[in-house]
Amino acid sequence: MSEALLIQGGRIIDPSRDLDVPGDVLVENGRISAIDAPGKIPASRAARLLDARGAWVLPGLLDIHVHLREPGLEYKETIETGTRAAVAGGFTSVACMANTQPVNDTPYVTAFIREKAKAVAPCRVFPVGAVTKGLKGEELAEIGGMVAEGAKAISDDGMPVMNSYLMRKAMDYAKAFGVPIISHAEDACLVGQGVMNEGPLSNELGLRGNPAAAEEILVAREIALCRLTRCPVHIAHISTALALEHLRRAKEEGLPVTAEASPHHLTLTEECIRHYDTHYKMAPPLRGERDVEALRDALASGLVDLIATDHAPHGEIDKRVEFDQAANGIIGLQTAVPVTLELVHQGVLSARRWVESLTSAPARLLGLPYGTLQPGREADITVLDPEQSWIFSEDRVVSKSRNSPYLGARLRGRIKATVVAGKIVYE
Ligand code: DOR
Ligand code: ZN
Repeated sequence: MSEALLIQGGRIIDPSRDLDVPGDVLVENGRISAIDAPGKIPASRAARLLDARGAWVLPGLLDIHVHLREPGLEYKETIETGTRAAVAGGFTSVACMANTQPVNDTPYVTAFIREKAKAVAPCRVFPVGAVTKGLKGEELAEIGGMVAEGAKAISDDGMPVMNSYLMRKAMDYAKAFGVPIISHAEDACLVGQGVMNEGPLSNELGLRGNPAAAEEILVAREIALCRLTRCPVHIAHISTALALEHLRRAKEEGLPVTAEASPHHLTLTEECIRHYDTHYKMAPPLRGERDVEALRDALASGLVDLIATDHAPHGEIDKRVEFDQAANGIIGLQTAVPVTLELVHQGVLSARRWVESLTSAPARLLGLPYGTLQPGREADITVLDPEQSWIFSEDRVVSKSRNSPYLGARLRGRIKATVVAGKIVYE
């Protein structure tokens, strides 16, 4: 049992309870026991005081899109290193994608991840089970069995499910077992050998293009299948203005469709690729200015429900190769907060909307009782200094991989403390 903790003098922002007030938070027996005006809770009630003056006190952040790489790809990341990076970045819960080796396509792998996380992870870990065996898109994985072992969503993320019949069946099962399907929406045939957004710049750089239409087509299909099955469908890392239009119409129709934006798609454009730096290569690819603008507006309005990192660790040998050959993705757990907080500093997002997109929105999607500071709930808390700047230097990288375009950059917004179930797991 953890000792009582009093977090004093911060700005408490909890969109789940419509709260944005200065105050103190008392944690007892691992749970939120009281929230009151500054100085109202006697310091004598706590064994441990945490000074949060000038800081924001938030429900612990959730990241529903993380690649922890274990089992099988431990040279890139492990459950332990990835979750240590998570708490350093302010996250108290992560959901980990199924594209491990072996793939998380059976209850045994799901149980392994759950048990390993219980033993080594400083934060909560929720496995995402695969849609198809081996992510091959040919045969359904054991959806019910994985859900029974703790899978909170089903996804072939990294790979699209190209067979619409199989995706429909997966949605039927997922709906029956009460979990959402997360779609990596890119038409693989149309992507072909594409390695960056298709347009004048891909021509200029001599790199094969991946057209926005590839995303648009699969988003439209997922919506059609959602209409057919009524299974909750979540679009991962949505990145194009036209896909957002499909999403808007689906939501207006009342379909259970949601979407996430990644920090990189919200803040970087294809222009970053000019120097062929593979740290700007990801799937889906970075898009043009107009797509980025549309994505920011969509996040601000709530059309895009939440922010998720797509933390995708890769080793040097995966990234220090020609652009065509390089692996897709970048690490994101330690930089997501400062990178997306810039949108609040710029006035694109309100503080409340930003917090919601990292707390109650992802918690709701996965049906988790977190992302709130409601008294009585388990105390997952993130304390953040929104103004403090720091340099994301090599020695600060907690993840096992360093594939970040932000290495060496000065970032604004620093995690002061991360609390999971009442215990300070990062400070
Ligand atoms: O950039 C990406 N990297 N996108 C994905 O969908 C998969 C991920 C990975 O696993 O590396
Ligand atoms: Zn991913």
